[in-house]
Amino acid sequence: MRNKVTTAIFPVAGMGTRFLPATKSVPKEIMTLVDRPLIQYAIDEARAAGITEFIFVTSRGKGALEDYFDLAPNLEEELRRKGKDDLLEALQQTNMDSGAIAYVRQHKALGLGHAVWCARRLIGDKPFAVILPDDVISAEKPCLQQMVEAYAETGGNMVAAMEVAQDKTSSYGILDVASENGNLLDVKSMVEKPKASEAPSNLAVIGRYILAPSVLHNLEKLEKGAGGEIQLTDAIAADLHQGRKVHGYRFAGQRFDCGSKSGFLQATVAYGLARPELREDLAGYIKSIAPGL
Ligand code: G1P
Repeated sequence: MRNKVTTAIFPVAGMGTRFLPATKSVPKEIMTLVDRPLIQYAIDEARAAGITEFIFVTSRGKGALEDYFDLAPNLEEELRRKGKDDLLEALQQTNMDSGAIAYVRQHKALGLGHAVWCARRLIGDKPFAVILPDDVISAEKPCLQQMVEAYAETGGNMVAAMEVAQDKTSSYGILDVASENGNLLDVKSMVEKPKASEAPSNLAVIGRYILAPSVLHNLEKLEKGAGGEIQLTDAIAADLHQGRKVHGYRFAGQRFDCGSKSGFLQATVAYGLARPELREDLAGYIKSIAPGL
């Protein structure tokens, strides 16, 4: 029997400089789409996929994240007293079991690969998921759940994949694919942030991974890669070259790049329109300004 994937790493140590001045005092992951912080979308997706252990790789200034996942008994009591049951329920959905979350500090900003490596002692010898909360994916069946189901058949390593514009390859890990079978891509190599002229394809890695523990061993030995950082892509590529499998998974759903302002605003509109209580008002407003755009 293949090991079930029950642990996920959430790298949340980034400074979020693109969102300054907001991120001067608010962690980027606490910024809200409609009324829920980015990190809540990531946690919900993980839970839907069967994740029960959550590891946050944090840095200085991320204390608000720990508070967010703490119980708020006074607030709960107040809402209960006032009969605000819907708000109480929304609040209680954020509660996490004691001991289900661990926080690890990344002491130096050495890259995504290094951030994941910082969690190595909590992972042990089991496969694990990595979720980048900046990549918000709206889907009928949550993206990681789609991947966990596919992974149950394939094993190995799996990364979410999506086509991007050729001139955007330098923002992503890019896959070199040997063959395709439905949603599954058989990856033969991968490279972090190649120039468009050097990219092996326009199939990009999106921030959902299911990885074998061997990737953590590879991270141990890695030199700095693209951008002078220790890259997760390079550690997965090393696993491939050591003879283990990597699959790309073309997920069903729409991905928003909430690491960029434009992507964040697009996600805000999309998630706003998806809310029955907001839809009419918001759609009316968008229609009213659209002719002038
Ligand atoms: C990271 C990964 C990259 C991946 C991307 C997806 O890059 O290093 O391989 O394609 O996330 O969003 P970052 O966006 O952190 O620069």
